[in-house]
Amino acid sequence: MTPHEARSPEGDRPFVVLGVSAGIAAYKAVEICRRLVDAGVHVAPVLTERATRFVGRATFDALGSEPAQTSVWDEASPIPHTRLGQRADLVLVAPATADLLARYAAGLADDLLTTTLIATAAPVVVCPAMHTEMWEHPSVRANLARLEARGVAVVPPEEGRLAGGDTGAGRMAEPATIVAAVLAMLEGGHGTGVGDLAGVRVLVSAGGTREAIDPVRFITNRSSGKQGHAVAEAAGRRGAEVVLVTTSSRSRPAGVQIVEVETAAEMEEAVLARATEVDVVVMAAAVADFRPKVAVDSKLHKADGIPDLVLEATNDILAELGRRRRNGQVLVGFAAETEDLPERARAKLVAKGVDLMVANDVSAPQVGFDHDTNAVTIFGADGSITDVPLATKAEVADALVDCIVPLLAPRRA
Ligand code: CTP
Repeated sequence: MTPHEARSPEGDRPFVVLGVSAGIAAYKAVEICRRLVDAGVHVAPVLTERATRFVGRATFDALGSEPAQTSVWDEASPIPHTRLGQRADLVLVAPATADLLARYAAGLADDLLTTTLIATAAPVVVCPAMHTEMWEHPSVRANLARLEARGVAVVPPEEGRLAGGDTGAGRMAEPATIVAAVLAMLEGGHGTGVGDLAGVRVLVSAGGTREAIDPVRFITNRSSGKQGHAVAEAAGRRGAEVVLVTTSSRSRPAGVQIVEVETAAEMEEAVLARATEVDVVVMAAAVADFRPKVAVDSKLHKADGIPDLVLEATNDILAELGRRRRNGQVLVGFAAETEDLPERARAKLVAKGVDLMVANDVSAPQVGFDHDTNAVTIFGADGSITDVPLATKAEVADALVDCIVPLLAPRRA
């Protein structure tokens, strides 16, 4: 019996709560509801009271898998507010207005939808929709960042025509895009026990660290965090429980716990503190090898002359992980090279005591830093060599997970 069957009478069909808040894009939620039901999903619509001013409850009653609900008082007993959250395999909010995002981020539970959001342990996907000015407002950005840090997935809005004739960013993503994202998440595991990394805890680091010279200047590198985020996404989709320690504010993979860091020292602390609890560590981050010995706490001015920048070495986090590694833990490093790739990658593999070293030639076109594509060679401590020719970073991430899975077999036996 799957956990889902244990929770609800919908058999094999995934159970999705479709939350609709009060925006004009509520009309698109009708299409989302229909498409999800057509795809074999059990859809329970939950509308805020004000959403019913945009689209009538009867429409969702007719198209959903069960009658639409708007209030915690709809059913006498048992009160449905926790039941919906408990039954859900996923909660989707489309459209998510600025007001709904603020209430959810603050942990308010003042209607059925926010109560369901607070009462669920299932993955949550929000699809913001609002006017450009609101979308760009710092309060909306802060609320979204808070939600993303808690593992909430965001299907970002698109540019286009908005209500009232304006054009700009803030228009809710198209129903087809949202439905595809939901189905991909339902198919994937995201720590739910489905997939070849089910039950495995994975720690991924991503992005280039920033080492302060003074309050306005820092030393960094070209790493964008794209490859590391793709690895976190792939591991989550394939069932792992994932923690992503990242310097990058790029879109956060759904269902992944995020730890934001900036410097090599912060990354070291965040990674080492969690490493003992995980089965796999993937160090995709480009950690600075050197940092200014002293970061001055007020801005350096030109008139004061050219500063003498004295650098000191940072600690090698991966090498430390290699020394501390517990039985059965899988360690993966990355090596960005411009020459002698196989020799350098193998030497790093041995020196840092890792199982896999993912090496790329960053001087090749479309490879490495900031590109959406990559081409890597994965060297194994057992002498194996896996070539992944030019592919998207998502495909490279899946190829890496393919190499990690067999290494976990002895641990699982
Ligand atoms: N790494 C780390 N801590 C550091 C530097 C690097 O954990 N202070 C990790 C990276 O996350 C990566 C791997 O080590 O997984 C290889 O990084 P790279 O910079 O290529 O290796 P270095 O040992 O720094 O060698 P190089 O002299 O080529 O920079």
